[in-house]
Amino acid sequence: MLEHGGRLQQAAQRYGIPRDRWLDLSTGINPVGWQGTAASPASWNRLPEEEDGLLEAAQAYYGAANALPVSGSQAAIQALPRLRARSRVGVPVLGYNEHAHRWRQAGHDVAPLATAEFAGALGGLDVLVVSNPNNPTGERCAPSQLLEWHTHLSSRGGWLVVDEAFIDTTPENSVARFAGGEGLIVLRSLGKFFGLAGARVGFVLSSPAIAQMLQEWLGPWTIAGPSRLVARAALEDQAWQESNRQRLRREGMRLVESLTHHGLKPTGGCDLFQWVVTPNAQAIHEALAEQGILTRYFGEPGPSLRFGLPATQADWQRLDSALREVAG
Ligand SMILES: Cc1ncc(COP(=O)(O)O)c(C=O)c1O
Repeated sequence: MLEHGGRLQQAAQRYGIPRDRWLDLSTGINPVGWQGTAASPASWNRLPEEEDGLLEAAQAYYGAANALPVSGSQAAIQALPRLRARSRVGVPVLGYNEHAHRWRQAGHDVAPLATAEFAGALGGLDVLVVSNPNNPTGERCAPSQLLEWHTHLSSRGGWLVVDEAFIDTTPENSVARFAGGEGLIVLRSLGKFFGLAGARVGFVLSSPAIAQMLQEWLGPWTIAGPSRLVARAALEDQAWQESNRQRLRREGMRLVESLTHHGLKPTGGCDLFQWVVTPNAQAIHEALAEQGILTRYFGEPGPSLRFGLPATQADWQRLDSALREVAG
């Protein structure tokens, strides 16, 4: 199992600080996520039914004809490599590490690539996985560029997989509406922008043929009934989406300013997290953790830290004064 952020219980034990005293900035999850519908008793009691309006809500939100619900985009990241014969697969050299891990695990030949190497490597690949924006570097690829790569790959029976887990605040950069074409697979998550990571809901936007193969592989009832209810309501709540896009853009800028102010100018990032490459990353991570602030530390390829967004004014102040002490 690979390492991920959000392991608060583990941090509480390791640093001897009770769980409820932590400020968890170790993920890119919106800390003030969508909250609205409480699951009905029937949604616990009955098997989930496909005709509950979730698909229509997803199709409208993503602007895509085929939206297959999955138990978090993680479920698709694990299943997609099982749907292809041995392939040459390009993945981001520094990115959400489950992609490389799952393609390797399924027996494919995996080439870790820097973003600048994607175009040059394309001729030797069957599949290219791009995260847009990338986690943790925040690197972005223009939709026109992605569509060009898709044309190139699909003409040879290849796939372009675009992981758009962090794209919801900038929907204009999404290629979701093109995902009906053969060989373009877009992964979306309700865990980040909507802050519904615990509901475990994501979508695969693809051609009907790929959706069918994936559905066959995953089997029935991939999402719990209560999660389906909540996901549908969140996807339909346009007022919440618009105000949170704006709020998160502001909060993202505030995080950049705060880190820069303390000498930790982000190397990259997006509205939901910022990434700082610094030789002192481990020491800063430890010192913040001693104060009950959890960040995500990366040792490879060089030391770096990822900061998620604080939720409240008090949390912002806490981060600010801790950074003053630790980094200043
Ligand atoms: C880039 C990226 N894609 C996908 C995922 C998986 O998210 P989920 O399974 O909650 O949709 C993550 C989780 O951190 C991620 O960072």
